[in-house]
Amino acid sequence: MRRRARIRALQPRSIVTEPAPLLTYIKKLIKTSGPLPVWRYMQLCLTHPEHGYYIARDPLGREGDFVTSPEVSQMFGELLGLWAASVWRMMGSPDPLRLIELGPGRGTLMADALRALRVLPPMYESLSVHMVEINPVLVEKQMAALSDAPNIEWHTSLDQVPQGPAIILANEYFDVLPVHQMVRRDGGWHERVVDIDGSGQLVFGVSAEPTPRFDVLLPPLVRAAPVGAIFEWRPDAEMMSIATRVRDNGGAALIIDYGHVRSDAGDTFQAISRHSFADPLKYPGRVDVTAHVDFEALARAAEDVGARVHGPVPQGEFLRRLGIEARAVNLMAKATPELSDDIATALKRLTEGGRGGMGSMFKVIGVSDPSLSVLVGLSDQAHGGGIRTP
Ligand SMILES: C[S@@+](CC[C@H](N)C(=O)[O-])C[C@H]1O[C@@H](n2cnc3c(N)ncnc32)[C@H](O)[C@@H]1O
Repeated sequence: MRRRARIRALQPRSIVTEPAPLLTYIKKLIKTSGPLPVWRYMQLCLTHPEHGYYIARDPLGREGDFVTSPEVSQMFGELLGLWAASVWRMMGSPDPLRLIELGPGRGTLMADALRALRVLPPMYESLSVHMVEINPVLVEKQMAALSDAPNIEWHTSLDQVPQGPAIILANEYFDVLPVHQMVRRDGGWHERVVDIDGSGQLVFGVSAEPTPRFDVLLPPLVRAAPVGAIFEWRPDAEMMSIATRVRDNGGAALIIDYGHVRSDAGDTFQAISRHSFADPLKYPGRVDVTAHVDFEALARAAEDVGARVHGPVPQGEFLRRLGIEARAVNLMAKATPELSDDIATALKRLTEGGRGGMGSMFKVIGVSDPSLSVLVGLSDQAHGGGIRTP
C-alpha cells in the first residue's frame, strides 16, 4: 500500500494564514447541496474561475510553492527537445509538426527545448507550437519567455489544438487533474467526500451509500484491500484524448510526473505551500492540492484506444539515457566554479532519489502511434509488459 511521500519539500516555512474566500464558498455549497466528493473539492480548489489556485497566480519557483524539473535546470528542457527531434525523425520528418505542451508553467521547458531544436533547421522550420494552459498569469509569462517561438498559439484544452502529426509534452500536468478517492467499507467502496463538522471545520467523510459495482473496476492489487483502505483514480478521458490523437495523426506524447507504476491502494492527496506540506482542507484555493499519478492506469487507458505504450521508467534513468551527464560536463566546462557547483547540484536533483531528489519518485511514460516501436530513453515493451517496476 502506498504512503504519502514528501516530494518537493525544502525548508518548512510559515504557510498562508489569511482567510480563503473559496473556503466560505465551499462551506456554503456543502450546506446547500451536501458533502463534496474529493474530486470536486480538488477541482474547485485548483480551477474555480475566480479563486482557483491555478487561475490567479504563478506558484512556481523558490519564492513560490514548489520547483519543477524545468525550473531546476535548462538541461531538462534541452534534453526533451532532443527527445522530440529523435521522435520527429522516426515519424519520417513530417512538415508541419505540432509541438504541444500541456500545463506549461512559465514556458521554461518549451523555451529550452526550442533553443536545442534550433540546431536542426528542417525540424525547427516545420514546427507550430501549441501551449495548453488555463492560467492567465502563466500565459503572460509564457508569452514573454517564448516571444520568438515559431507559429505559437495558446489554447485552454487539447481539443482546441488542430489535428496533425504531433509531439506532446506534459511535465507535472496529470498530478493536478482532479482525483476520486474511494474508501473501502464492509459493504463496498464509498466515495470519499469533504463535509463540515460540528465546529464548522471542513473534514473528510464518506458517502452514505457505496458506489454500485465499483469492485468490478478494481485493479488486481486493490481487490484484497482491507476495510479503511483508500483507492484513488482519475477519469481516463485526458489520457485517451492524447492517445487517440497520436494514434490517428502520428506522433508521440511524453508524460512526466510523480507517481507509482502499479495501481494500488493508498492516500496521496496532499497540499503543498511554500515547499512544505499543508492541510489540504484549511486553505482551499491558496495552496496547491495534488495526488500522485497512477502510471498503470495511464498505460491501460492509452492501450485501450490502440496506442503504443513505452515505459514507464524513472526520470533519472530516462535523463541519463538521453545523455544528461555529458550535457552537464559540457556546461560545467564553460562555467565559473560557482555555476559549476549549481549544475552539479541540479544534475543530482534531477537524476537521484532520496530526499529532495526527483530521479526515482518521478516517472516518464511515452505513448505513441503503434508504428513507433521504440522511443529513445524509454522501454519499447508495448503490450502486456508495458509497466516496469523501477
Ligand atoms: C505543476 S504546474 C507544472 C508546470 C510546468 N509543466 C513545469 O514543469 O514547470 C501545472 C501546470 O498545469 C497548468 N494547469 C492546471 N490545470 C490545468 C488544466 N486543467 N488545463 C491546462 N493546464 C492546467 C497550470 O497552470 C500549470 O501551468
